[in-house]
Amino acid sequence: MGEEKIKPRQLRISYFCPMTNQAADLKDIASYAKKYGYVFPSSEIYDGLSAVYDYGQNGVALKDNIKRYWWKAMVQLNGDIEGLDAAIFMHPTTWKASGHVDAFNELLIDNRDTQRRYRADWLIENYIAELNAKIGKARDCERADTQLKGCIEQRDRVAERMIAALEKDDLEALRRLITDLGIADPISGSKNWTDVRRFNLMFATQLSASADSSPDLYLRPETAQGAFVNFLNVQKTARQKLPFGIAQIGKAFRNEIVARQFIFRMREFEQMELQYFVRPGEALKYYEEWREKRMRWHLSLGLGPAHYRFRDHDKLAHYADAASDIEFRFPFGFKELEGIHARTDFDLRNHQKYANKKLQFFDPVSNQRHVPHVVETSVGLDRLFLAVFSVALQEETLADGSTRTVLRLPHILAPIQAAILPLVKKDGLPEIARSLFGDLKYDFNVTLDDKDTIGRRYRRQDAVGTPYCITIDHDTRQDQSATLRNRDTMEQERVPLTRIPSLLAERISMKAQLRKL
Ligand code: GAP
Repeated sequence: MGEEKIKPRQLRISYFCPMTNQAADLKDIASYAKKYGYVFPSSEIYDGLSAVYDYGQNGVALKDNIKRYWWKAMVQLNGDIEGLDAAIFMHPTTWKASGHVDAFNELLIDNRDTQRRYRADWLIENYIAELNAKIGKARDCERADTQLKGCIEQRDRVAERMIAALEKDDLEALRRLITDLGIADPISGSKNWTDVRRFNLMFATQLSASADSSPDLYLRPETAQGAFVNFLNVQKTARQKLPFGIAQIGKAFRNEIVARQFIFRMREFEQMELQYFVRPGEALKYYEEWREKRMRWHLSLGLGPAHYRFRDHDKLAHYADAASDIEFRFPFGFKELEGIHARTDFDLRNHQKYANKKLQFFDPVSNQRHVPHVVETSVGLDRLFLAVFSVALQEETLADGSTRTVLRLPHILAPIQAAILPLVKKDGLPEIARSLFGDLKYDFNVTLDDKDTIGRRYRRQDAVGTPYCITIDHDTRQDQSATLRNRDTMEQERVPLTRIPSLLAERISMKAQLRKL
C-alpha cells in the first residue's frame, strides 16, 4: 500500500482524450467503455448494428444512477411534478397531431458514385464553416481588406440562399446551391449528386399480423407526447393545479441518417423529459426559471462550469415561443445536451383538435377554462452518460513518473461505490471482508476482490471508477479497523469497521448534493 501515498498536489492531471484529437478521442472512449463493461456495440458478434449500443454491467448501473439523480431532483423533491411511464407505442394519430408525420424530416442527398447519403443542409453548413475559418485566418493575418470582404460577402450570400430554400421548402433550390457551390462528397471528392429528398425519421411498424397492411404504428421519437395525451389523467388523479409538471424517463427511436458519434447520436436512446403546464401568459417566466434550474442541476455533477454553455435558438420551431440548448463540451466540441423549450399550447391544442376531446384546465381563481402552455426540458440520458464518461476518463502522471488511468466519475454516479479487498486469502481476512460486504450490500453497490496484488486491485478499481477501496489487513483482526483509500486523492485513512457504513453514506450522498440545488 506504500506506493499509493501520494498527495493530490503531486499529481499532474491530463485528459486522457485531449480536446484536439477528435476522431481518436471518441474511438478511445468507445473502446475504453467496452473494455470496462460500460458500453458494447449492439449484436457485435454479427458485426454490430450502426448507431445502436448495449450497456454492460457497469454501464447499466451508471445509467441507473443518473436516472435516479434526475428523478429525485425533478419528481421526488417537487410537490408540483408527477411521474409517468407512458407506452412506447401510441395511437398513430398522436404523431399526426404532434406534427411528426408531416414535419419530422431530414433533407437528404445521395452521391451517385459513392452511394453515400448526406444531410443537404449540413453539406452547405460545412461549406459556410470553411468560409468562416478562412475569414478568421484572413483577420488574424490582417490580409487585404478586399479578400476578406469577398469571403464575408460570399458567406452571407450562401447563408441567405440556404435559409430561403429551407423556408420555402424548396428542395430543388437546395440541390442547385450544392451544385453551384461545387460541393463535393467529403470522402471521395465526387460531385455526382442526386436530387434532395425528404426522409421521415420515425420508425414505422404494424399492429396487425398481416405483412401487407400499411404501416400504422410508430416507435415514439420523443417521450413528450405521452405526457400531453395523459395531461388530464394526471392532473385529475393527482389533484394538481397549474402550474404543474409531468416527468418521464423512457426510450425514444429515430432513424438517424448521420449517426457516427458513438452514443451521442443513436437510433434507440433514452430521454428524461419534463412537461411543465402553466397558465397562458406565464410561460416565459417559467422558461427562464427552468433554464436556470436545469443548468444548476448539471453543474451539481461537478464536471466543471467550463464544460457547459447556453445556446439560444434564433430560428424557432413553429410551435415554440422561446428555445435554448444547454450545450456540453464533448470531445468533438460543444454540442446539444439538453433542450429547453417554451412550446406554447401547440401540442395540447392539436391533440384536442385531432381527438375531438377537451384538454383544458378549469381555473377556479379566474373561473375560466384554458389550454395550458408548456415549458419542456428534455435531456438525452445517453448523451449525459457520454458527457460524464468523457470528462471522467483521465490519465495521470504520478510523482514517481508512472501513470494511472482513472475514471473520476462523480461519486454519486459510480457503478460500484466501494471495493472490499482482503490483503491475503487466508488468516481470517476473507471472512472479515465477507462480513463487511454483507453489512454494506443493502445500502451500497459493493464488490469483493481478492485476486492479484493490492496495487493491481487499486488500479483495477480506479479504472472502473470505484470511489473507495476498503483494505482488510492483518491489523484489522486486532484493531477492528480497515484502510479506506480515496480513488481521487489516493490518500488512505484508518477507520473502524463500524464507522464505514456511515462514512460511505456521508461521502456518497445524493441527499447532500440534492440539498445544494
Ligand atoms: N421532446 C423534445 C425533444 O425530443 P430534441 O432536441 O429532439 O427534443 C431532446 O431531443 C434531447 O434528446 C436532446 O437534447 C438530446 O440530448 C437527446 N437526443 C435527441 N436525439 C438523440 C439521438 N439520436 N441520440 C441520443 N440522444 C438524442
